[in-house]
Amino acid sequence: MIYAKSLMKDRGVVLKSPREIDEMRVANRIVAEILEAVKEIVRPGITTDELNVFAEERLRKKKAKSAFKGYRGYPKALCTSVNSQVVHGVPTKTPLKEGDLLSLDFGVYCSGFYGDAAITVPVGLVSEEAMKLKEVAEKALYKGIEKVYQGNRLSDISYAVQSFVEGNGFSVVREFVGHGIGRSLHEEPQIPNYGPPGVGIKLRAGMVLAIEPMINAGGSEVKILQDGWTAVTKDGSLSAHFEHTVAITETGPVILTSLDG
Ligand code: MF3
Ligand code: CO
Repeated sequence: MIYAKSLMKDRGVVLKSPREIDEMRVANRIVAEILEAVKEIVRPGITTDELNVFAEERLRKKKAKSAFKGYRGYPKALCTSVNSQVVHGVPTKTPLKEGDLLSLDFGVYCSGFYGDAAITVPVGLVSEEAMKLKEVAEKALYKGIEKVYQGNRLSDISYAVQSFVEGNGFSVVREFVGHGIGRSLHEEPQIPNYGPPGVGIKLRAGMVLAIEPMINAGGSEVKILQDGWTAVTKDGSLSAHFEHTVAITETGPVILTSLDG
């Protein structure tokens, strides 16, 4: 199995010292604060472009840099993925509508390190299905984080996410995965949100992982739109995305992109 092999190579994994993990708090705290601030201004009628401008202004005030803008030519600081858009939705001048389900993905570079997180938020009142999808995606992220202890294997995270999501009748996106993070936005290892337990590299204190389940209400298949960025579900079903940057310490996971530390 190709992916199981790639799970095995821990050569590229960069371990961080406790001091470096502390330094990573700066960028990651800014991610958490700005995402929360963006969430608070989401409402029907606002455009995703306006959300992006707001996020970029906050970044400037913090003297921090976007992790995404310019990354492989990505044009904005924020990814805004609406309804059947899975990830990498590019902000537009189209106003959000009551009932939309909006995923916000945001990354920051500051003090030598990257931080990365995503949330999914309802725009006004949303359908019961949308609300359940959002809640299962968020809980799936925490199911994954619960496995982030040294001695566990990488795919214990994957299995925890997949079994929870599928147990709730939804599907897990395969084409995109979580990742190590540190002095680069994307480091080893790749972290699939599916797979059997007990496979892949052993988790060790000093690893910092961006865990990010992307889940669909219908089938798991996605396609990329003409713009070369926006990933959407093939069947048009709703999609949700949550992400945290998590450090593995001797005593367990520390969520660096959480507002309460
Ligand atoms: N948060 C995403 C990731 O983890 C988004 C990066 S792609 C970008 O990979 F182009 F938008 F920067
Ligand atoms: Co990420």
